[in-house]
Amino acid sequence: MAAPKRRRSQEWFGREGKMGFIYRSWMKNRGIPQDQFDGRPVIGICNTYSELTPCNSHFRTLAEHVKNGVLEAGGFPLEFPVMSLGETLLRPTAMLYRNLASMDVEESIRGNPLDGVVLLMGCDKTTPSLLMGAASCDIPTIGVSGGPMLSSWYRGQRIGSGTNTWSLSEQLRAGEITQDEFHEAESCMHRSHGHCMVMGTASTMASMVEALGVGLPGNAAYPAVDARRNVIARLAGRRIVELVNQDLPLSKLLTREAFENAIRVNAAIGGSTNAVIHLIAIARRMGVELGLDDWDRLGRGVNTILNLMPSGEYLMEDFCYAGGLPVVIRELGEAGLLQRDALTANGKTIWENCRDARNDGPHVIMSHAKPFKHDTGIAVLRGNLCPDGAIIKPSAATPALMQHKGRAVVFEDIDDFHARIDDEHLDIDESCVMVLRNCGPKGYPGMAEVGNMPLPPKILKRGITDMVRISDARMSGTAYGTVVLHMAPEAAAGGPLGLIENGDLIELDVANRRLQLHVSDAELARRRAAKKPAKVHMERGYWKLYVEHVNQANDGCDLDFLVGKSGAGVPRDNH
Ligand code: FES
Repeated sequence: MAAPKRRRSQEWFGREGKMGFIYRSWMKNRGIPQDQFDGRPVIGICNTYSELTPCNSHFRTLAEHVKNGVLEAGGFPLEFPVMSLGETLLRPTAMLYRNLASMDVEESIRGNPLDGVVLLMGCDKTTPSLLMGAASCDIPTIGVSGGPMLSSWYRGQRIGSGTNTWSLSEQLRAGEITQDEFHEAESCMHRSHGHCMVMGTASTMASMVEALGVGLPGNAAYPAVDARRNVIARLAGRRIVELVNQDLPLSKLLTREAFENAIRVNAAIGGSTNAVIHLIAIARRMGVELGLDDWDRLGRGVNTILNLMPSGEYLMEDFCYAGGLPVVIRELGEAGLLQRDALTANGKTIWENCRDARNDGPHVIMSHAKPFKHDTGIAVLRGNLCPDGAIIKPSAATPALMQHKGRAVVFEDIDDFHARIDDEHLDIDESCVMVLRNCGPKGYPGMAEVGNMPLPPKILKRGITDMVRISDARMSGTAYGTVVLHMAPEAAAGGPLGLIENGDLIELDVANRRLQLHVSDAELARRRAAKKPAKVHMERGYWKLYVEHVNQANDGCDLDFLVGKSGAGVPRDNH
């Protein structure tokens, strides 16, 4: 019989002599008894708690519940902090730091005596950064999301994080509400712990954690303040000890089948466009070759069955009461749109977890046969404006605009946009195509969520709420509109987006997956020759590293040298 595998933590705590003394003795300063070093699984609890990340402000409590679970199962829990990315405060955009945080996670796991890890994540970028870092180490891993905030109510109506921020600020700009009413709505919107409670990026990524099988069933929808959220944390603490005992690394869960399930779930929930970038980045850390074509192919024929903001009417709390993500997964399974055998963190297949899920809210979760919206998977566009692809979220777009030809109104960058958008003399009408450039990974830098440009006030005042907008930026998962995003290559990397001139004709044809600039190749070549090559220069620090190494959106915006994994080999001794 083969000898049992020596745990990596034993390369620290199981040592004798000087190094064993060093590795254990300092750990004892807070009262850890000798028996904790006897070879039991050492579990890291990777915490993104920060007062600068309001959505994760309850994570100290969550970590305590994970710890209890680890102890109950006979493990040794050790909590550690990593860089936390708060979407609302971090400038110029939290996305700039996603890869930096992932490096923190990866090196913290590999450099420490950990056999397994529980990832605590909530606000948008905290989920992909932790999954990316963990994937590059590939030890047993479970994800626990922090859960959404309770529903917000303002004057008798549900209002959703972000989603109604955009609509209320447009009402304010159009003079339909007062500044006092705006402030009142601000106080109503976020009234409990948790992350944004619409199907924005945080809720989408929490759903991805569950759909990928890295989280336990129920991970996506239980509100942050629901006791069952703490139960999930506790169960994750127990289960991670078993995963270590079974020697089941993250790569057993993050398979191609798991990513295929996640892409279809994203379509069914009307999930955020940001998931496209994040899932590609996570998959490629794990060595799974996921690309834009997978998104288009797998999303085709998948209907949105969730009636949640920003595409619909309800909020995450309603989703929870309706039965949560297992109901959605069951619907996909019954429609033949699920890789049923994909393994999940609790040891069961995704189908075993979800096949008996009960729908207690058919007004919130509809059936795939009678969906909320038909065929609404993320559409991947190609054409002379985006040779490496661009995306649009059909469930959040205006159907009448999905086939549209209009005159370009170009904004050179976000400062140009802010300087001119409110100008009554801006030469624009609702048939135009708004173009924003230099907002991609290198150009902004960090690819900010500015692609859903607010409409000019003179158009809003006429009651028009949507126009075709195209850019190399991202869009908040809470936003909506006929918005083409992630155009690649971006303008700052020499993409054709940089060649558009005011007045050019642009054609969007979502059904045929086309985005075309009606300008001849010869004229585009002339413009390119006359243009100074785009060059983004940063003097020093992480920003310099980032702009020199960031991949384009179609490749997940990872840093080129971070793609792939290095495993969890034990580094040499420190003394
Ligand atoms: Fe944190 Fe929306 S701002 S999830």
